[in-house]
Amino acid sequence: STTLPYPRDVVAQLSELSVNQPVYFNYPDDRSPCVLIRKGREIKGGVGPDRDVVAYSTQCTHMGCPVNYDQEAETFKCPCHYSIFDPDNSGQMVIGHATESLPQIVLEYDEAEDALLAVSVNGLIYGRQANII
Ligand code: FES
Repeated sequence: STTLPYPRDVVAQLSELSVNQPVYFNYPDDRSPCVLIRKGREIKGGVGPDRDVVAYSTQCTHMGCPVNYDQEAETFKCPCHYSIFDPDNSGQMVIGHATESLPQIVLEYDEAEDALLAVSVNGLIYGRQANII
């Protein structure tokens, strides 16, 4: 079998990120919406010098509805059937109908360029048989 390589895409400049402000992007292709968040404190799987930046697919693992980032609750909420996912804990579902965590976008930090890059995905993006298609 062949495994296609993931692209390496610059998603954001670290110094331009505001804490708890979602930044939306697509990865690994234009049909896969994602979000990046700088939490302002070290969290599990966080990247960057403060280990506080994470990113996820925004397609709910239940039926693919786009989840919203609730800045007050600091969780992802699905408007379709009310699943809630935790960005501080690898996208794990807190409550709801989904059975899988939100796919996590693997990030790298390039200090010289002040850049956060998306480099792969942990977990299968909703509706796909492979993440790279
Ligand atoms: Fe998100 Fe059903 S599609 S909970």
